[in-house]
Order: sequence, then structure tokens, then C-alpha cells
Amino acid sequence: MSESRIQCSALRSKIMSAAEAARLIQNGANVGMSGFTGSGYPKVLPAALAERITTANAKGERFRVGVWTGASTAPELDGALAAVDGIEMRLPYQSDPACRKRINAGEMEYIDIHLSHVAQFVWSGFLGKLDVAVVEVGGILEDGRLIPSSSIGNNKTWLDQADKVILEVNSWQNSRLEGMHDIYYGTQLPPNRKPIPLVKVSDRIGEPYLRCDPSKIVAIVETHSPDRNTAFSPPDENSRLIAGHILEFFKHEVKKGRLPANLLPLQSGVGNIANAVMAGLNDGPFENLTAYTEVLQDGMLEMLKSGKLTCASATAFSLSSDALGELNANLDFYHDRIILRAQEISNHPEVIRRLGVIAMNGMIEADIYGNVNSTHVMGSQIMNGIGGSGDFARNGYLSIFMTPSQAKGGAISCIVPMVSHVDHTEHDVQVLVTEQGLADLRGLSPRQRAKAVIENCAHPNFKPALRDYYNRALDQSPGKHTPHLLEEVYNWHLSALRGEPM
Ligand code: COA
Repeated sequence: MSESRIQCSALRSKIMSAAEAARLIQNGANVGMSGFTGSGYPKVLPAALAERITTANAKGERFRVGVWTGASTAPELDGALAAVDGIEMRLPYQSDPACRKRINAGEMEYIDIHLSHVAQFVWSGFLGKLDVAVVEVGGILEDGRLIPSSSIGNNKTWLDQADKVILEVNSWQNSRLEGMHDIYYGTQLPPNRKPIPLVKVSDRIGEPYLRCDPSKIVAIVETHSPDRNTAFSPPDENSRLIAGHILEFFKHEVKKGRLPANLLPLQSGVGNIANAVMAGLNDGPFENLTAYTEVLQDGMLEMLKSGKLTCASATAFSLSSDALGELNANLDFYHDRIILRAQEISNHPEVIRRLGVIAMNGMIEADIYGNVNSTHVMGSQIMNGIGGSGDFARNGYLSIFMTPSQAKGGAISCIVPMVSHVDHTEHDVQVLVTEQGLADLRGLSPRQRAKAVIENCAHPNFKPALRDYYNRALDQSPGKHTPHLLEEVYNWHLSALRGEPM
């Protein structure tokens, strides 16, 4: 495959095995790896690096690296490196069980930051020096420019900022992905920032290739390996109900003249509920929709196929194997309807605000005043991370958070007196949705919000206790603006931690 995928003859001398390339990464290095929600991550270098770490550990030498990515990756990357305790510091978003375990055991540092902030943090030097970039690409052009793969994430920044670059050229990636990407090279740090000239979802403001100084490329590894397959379960009853509430809300907003008939660009978070909302929209009355989102899941692909969605902008695919088959079989159709951008643009606050994105994201719990916890279980254990939810919720035209009203088979209420960790404050959350109903919090004071959240969103099993808490707080709290009983505000979580009913 070398010549068709690696057209630049000068760079072919850099082709080597993953094991040889892994030897170019030193202990303590910060490594910027490609990868976003299971697509476009390096497939073989991380395993070779894990092997190197194992060998060093066997000799009694501690070997660990910092791992920076776009977002979550796959077992071959996060899983392989976490298994050998090879990650000193991980950022920005992960969803890997082995990583999560290490982070929650205090064995791995984890910095959970807004996805739109990562690139500028690196340019500014807030995160220290980036030593090596390990980036999967679809190919290398004769002049050295790189054909991006199935995700872009932070690759532009890694290639630009790292001292050394290792490329994985993956011939499994469809060569017809070429041209789908739009890499914008106009972002700057203050005080030199200029407006980003993106005013429609379908605008292309950059170029289809990644730039890389060839003198920094120290290794090229050839692979032929699939992306992680993201399986979606068919929408369950709760997801269907949540999707139904959101659709009714959209119809109402259109009727009121607060949304246009084709809505506004949609952002949809990860997971099955988000996918169910897309399925609901696919069967719903809205036409000529667009999406300005981070991840393109199965549901959006189906909407593109049906014509409901005319254009989708994202930074990565996250598809099941069936949906991937559909994409590859009909890439000519999808080619001009999908644009993949760097995550600094897909999640850019300025663009999200200008386009008026409708942000729909999952959550772990919300409190009666509308604060949302997306990341922590019982206050101290990380689940995944904030991902792009804050970028979209804070800056969108509408910010919607959704969850089933109960977790763990009904043992835990996802509506609580006070969240055990805050990711999105009451000021950034406009609409809460559970299978029980939808609470539109716009224009409501804290006390009005509490009533709407308890009555519309809480599960009937927990409603009486929430009403009781709120009424007693109203009576006894020294402040009546946001009434709380501080001495018992976390009793629900404490009970759950003890394994008792909430
Ligand atoms: N208390 C304790 N655990 C809870 C809980 C609660 N209130 N609510 C959910 N959970 C647990 C579930 O039981 C499940 O645990 P398990 O895997 O051990 O069974 C886990 O959290 C995930 O819940 P699930 O119902 O499967 O939800 P999901 O897959 O829709 O994920 C988030 C929900 C919040 C974890 C997910 O949306 C997320 O990571 N969000 C943050 C990032 C984000 O929003 N990105 C969007 C931009 S792309």
C-alpha cells in the first residue's frame, strides 16, 4: 500500500514497525494522540508503547507518558496504556473502563476540560510541552500534506505543536474520505483573534488537508485496522418517551415563533438517548434540518439518508458497524453532506452562538434548581468527562439536558435536592427532560424552577420526598431565594453510598 497511500517518496524512508516507532517516545513525554469517540485513533502504536512500558517495568524502571487526545478513543489506546499503568496524565475526555478505574483509584491524573479549550491551552503553554504527536491519517500527498482520517479532533494542534511526529497511515480508512474535511488555519491567540468566517453549517472555511512540517516526521507506521465499532441498542421505552417530549417541545416553539420551521442546527451528545432523539426527528414533521455537532452517530446518518438532514458538521464519526457499512457503500452521497472540522471549530463558542445551535446532552443528575452533573457519580467518582457538553450548553440558543428519571433499577433518583458535582450551572441549563416530562426553565426564578423540575421530571417514586424536602426548605431555610436545608442536602447521596434507599 505504501505508494498509493504514501505518495511523498521522501517520506517513505521513515516507514518502520510500530515497535521501532514506539522506541522514539521517551519516558515522561507528553504525547498528543489522534482519536475522537472511537474513530481515527492510532491502532498499533499505543500497543507497541504499552509493550515498551511493560518491558521497562519488568526491569524495575518506571515508564509513563502524558496522553492527550481529541476525546475518548478505544481499548487499543486508552485500554492498552491504562492496563500497564502507563499513563501519568490523561486529558481531555475518556470513557474507557480501565482508565476510569485508574483515575478513580487515584493512580492516574485526569484533567477534564471543555473540548473547545484544549487547543488554545496547548498553544498558550498551559499544559506544558507537547513532545510527540501520534496521528492516524488516511494518506500522505506528494507534497507532504496529510489526508485526515475519520476524526480530526486536535490533530491540527498536535501536528503543529509537537517536536516529533509519528504517523499511522491506515489503509482501512476509506480513501474517498478525502475532501470531506475542512481544516481552518486562521485561529489565533488574543490579542490577534479575528472573527471565524463560518456563518452557515455548510460553509467550508479552510482546506481539506492537514499541514505538517516534514522534517518533524520521525516515523510512519502502516496499518490496516478498523475503528472501534460503537454499538447502539434500539431505543428503549424511556428513550422514546424522552425523544417524544423533545419533539413536542420543538413543535410548540415553532408555533410560538421562537424556532424556525426547520429548527436551528442540532447538536446531539453521545449515547443511546441522543440516538433515540435523532430517530424521533427522523420520523417527525421537521424538514431541511442541519446539524452542527461534535460527533456524527447512526441517527444523524439515517437522517441524512432520509433527506431530513441536509448537512452535518462534526469533528468525528461514531458509528455502529451497520452504519459504517452504509457510509462506505454510499460515500459519494454523503461526501458533500458531511464536513469534518477540527474540534476547536466544531465546538467553538463563537460559532455555536452565531449559528444558534440547539444543544441536547445527557446527564447523570440534575437538582431541583436546574444545576446539572454530567460527569461524577456520588460526587467523587468520574464517569467520563464533560466533553463538549459545556461548549454547546453555555453557548447554544437552547440548552437541553436529558436522562431517565431514575438510575440503577430505580434505586437512585436522577433528580435530587442538590447535585453532588456541578458541570452546568442553573444559568446554563434551559430545559430538563426525563421520560416523565419536560421542564422549560427559561424565565423562571429558582422557586418556580424547583416546582417545574419536581412536578415534570421526577419519578413518582421520588416526587413525595422531593416535595417534602422543598416545602421544608421553603419553611426553614434562612434565605428564600434558593431555599435549601444544608444539613440534609446530601442525605440522598449518602444513603445511596451506604446502599440504602435514597
Ligand atoms: N447516579 C449514579 N449513577 C448514575 C446516575 C445517577 N444519577 N445516572 C446514571 N448513572 C450511571 C448509570 O447507571 C450507568 O452506569 P453503568 O454503566 O454502571 O450501568 C452510567 O451512569 C451511564 O448512564 P446511562 O444511563 O447509560 O447514560 P448514557 O450512556 O446516556 O450516559 C452520561 C450519560 C452523562 C454519562 C453521558 O452522556 C456523558 O458522558 N456525558 C458527558 C459528556 C457529554 O455530554 N458529551 C456531549 C457532547 S458529545
